[in-house]
Formats: sequence, structure tokens, C-alpha cells
Amino acid sequence: MDYVKSGLVLLVAAWTLSGQDGKLSAEEAKKLKNPIAFTKKSISQGRDIFLRNCVGCHGDNGKALIDVVADATDLTDPKAFRDGLSDGEIFRSIRDGAGASMPSFRSQIDKEADLWHLVNFIHSLWPPESQPPLQEKE
Ligand code: HEC
Repeated sequence: MDYVKSGLVLLVAAWTLSGQDGKLSAEEAKKLKNPIAFTKKSISQGRDIFLRNCVGCHGDNGKALIDVVADATDLTDPKAFRDGLSDGEIFRSIRDGAGASMPSFRSQIDKEADLWHLVNFIHSLWPPESQPPLQEKE
């Protein structure tokens, strides 16, 4: 019976964390902390996930493909972002979708860590002065 109980506890926790419609609010997103360090390894994992899921609209270099989806955000330009630049807000845009035509990736990319690798990859597309410092272990 214990596994039923812990399953229930997890469900309730997930429900509470994500709000009733399952989407994060902007406020909740801002409070999230990226648990994955900004390292070359994480960036390269993020790049792999990006190449599999995102290039159709954002292009393989993160600049939107004008002729595919005209309003897809140019991910290389922080000034182009409409829904916030903090790690948590970018996490939210990917997990829950953005604007009218960016779909939610919650079911395709179901590991939270993979979403954070994508956040790190997106940071790596930004101009050097806008990127967080690399955190390589010696
Ligand atoms: C079906 C096309 C499509 C796909 C596939 C897609 N996006 Fe998007 N994306 C968009 C569009 C369109 C927008 C602009 C939404 C808006 O704000 O109106 C957007 C916006 C975003 C934003 C928010 C930028 C902002 O304005 O703050 C991020 C981050 C992002 N996409 C990342 C991704 C990642 C990572 C993937 C792959 C996991 C992905 N997108 C896949 C179409 C797409």
C-alpha cells in the first residue's frame, strides 16, 4: 500500500507545483532555479535535444526560419524574447509553450533536466556579454 500512498503524495505535489491548469505562471517561473550548471557538456546535450525538436521553426542556428514560422523568436537575440530572460522563464516557454504558435514540449521532453539543458543551450547562442559564466570543474 505504501507505493500507492507515495504515488498520491507525488501527484498532489506535482499538482500544487504546477497550478491547476498544469502551466507555470510567470511568477512561479521566475522563482525556479536552474539545477544544471552552465557547462560545455550541458550545452552540447541541449544542442542535441534542440536539433531533434526545435529546428523546424527556430532553424538549426536558433535564428527563426522566416519562411517556416514567421514569428518564431530569434533565440540568438535576448532582445527578441517576449516572455522573459531568466532561466525559469525560458524553461516555462519551452515546457508550456509560448505565444499563439509555439507548442508545449511537456510530453515530448518529459525529463526536466533535458529542459534545463535546452535553457543552457539557448544561453550559449547569445552574445558573449549576455551569457552566464561557464562553470567548468577543474
Ligand atoms: C511549431 C514551431 C515551433 C517549434 C517546433 C518550436 N518553437 Fe519555440 N517558438 C515558436 C514561436 C512561433 C515562438 C514565438 C511565440 C510568441 O511569443 O509569440 C517561439 C518562442 C520560443 C521561445 C520564447 C522566446 C520568448 O519570446 O520569450 C523559446 C525559449 C523557444 N521558442 C524555444 C524553443 C525550443 C527550445 C524548442 C524545441 C524544444 C522550440 N522552441 C520549438 C515556434 C516553435
